[in-house]
Amino acid sequence: AHLWRGVMREYADRLPTLAGAPVITLQEGGTPLIPAEKLSDRVGAQVFVKYEGLNPTGSFKDRGMTTAISMAAKNGAKAVICASTGNTSASAAAYATKAGMTCAVLVPDGKIAMGKLSQAIAHGATLLQVEGNFDDCLNVARKLADAYPVELVNSVNPARIEGQKTASFEIVDALGDAPDIHCLPVGNAGNITAYWKGYREYVAGHGLSGVPDGPATQLPQMWGFQAAGSAPIVLGHPVDEPETIATAIRIGNPASWPQAIEARDASGGRIESVTDEQILAAHRLLSATEGIFVEPASAASVAGLLQVHAAGGVPEGATIVCTVTGHGLKDPDWALKGLDGKPVAPQRISVDVVSAAVALGLD
Ligand code: F0G
Repeated sequence: AHLWRGVMREYADRLPTLAGAPVITLQEGGTPLIPAEKLSDRVGAQVFVKYEGLNPTGSFKDRGMTTAISMAAKNGAKAVICASTGNTSASAAAYATKAGMTCAVLVPDGKIAMGKLSQAIAHGATLLQVEGNFDDCLNVARKLADAYPVELVNSVNPARIEGQKTASFEIVDALGDAPDIHCLPVGNAGNITAYWKGYREYVAGHGLSGVPDGPATQLPQMWGFQAAGSAPIVLGHPVDEPETIATAIRIGNPASWPQAIEARDASGGRIESVTDEQILAAHRLLSATEGIFVEPASAASVAGLLQVHAAGGVPEGATIVCTVTGHGLKDPDWALKGLDGKPVAPQRISVDVVSAAVALGLD
């Protein structure tokens, strides 16, 4: 039987910088690439959804946390620290636990989804709520890691990008080549950086030393989408007070900003913004027509694809992958509200078959 061994073991030959590190893994990666038939019909292309919510802690962060924590272990670290809008902290807390390390997380005041907060607490992380936003948290975390013996596991840590690039490998391995277009949400911009690195390394004949040539014959256009209230890359300047209901990407000054621009320009892609309304509509479309439950930030990739399609920018018949980055159970409140913002409550009935049948319109 072939059991998935986690991204470090599955792609060891493509992670030369991790060679010699102990493998701290929760068997992350190997996530489904789901054909999205309704979405495909709607945009006139072949659309697949890379469902990263099925990683061990419910987001794509696990791909980069196995590598970051493994490197921290190799370096003899006893403690790790991160700033987070929630998913990084959930992942860091779980992998630090697996490694026997302590974990401290800095989160913005009151803007963390309950599911994510509960994970960090369950895994025993020390949680600090900072009176500021994510960008403030990251500044403090960087300074702490510079001055004290704690290892920073945000995506400015190169091991994070190494691990996260494996998602591109999985997509090429599943499709037989890179897609024509890859859509994803952009927050701190680590993930678009990682995907682009992965695709570049998987193109046959790329010639990077120490890394074997890959099976892909083409590179995708990278299409990144920010929330309209938190769209510094689109605006061309940092946003001091980022806002969006997609709290995971409520970021005003992305750490990997230049790398995101590079991925966009070198791939002939685009980085655009989508409104919270568009994000919620895509969130609803994924759950109600494709059977895929994601957290709001994840739906930005699909919201963006629909936006470009509405503007006539989706090539007929193109192969398109949309990454949905986190599970819907992370932040379930949005599913419990209708598009009008009112709570969706179940109808109450007595213990009675006829009442049930009437309520269901069967009688
Ligand atoms: N989607 C989700 C669900 C996220 O949690 C994040 C980032 C992103 C998209 C954006 O990815 O930052 O690499 O551009 N979450 C970070 C965190 C900031 O702290 O969990 P990015």
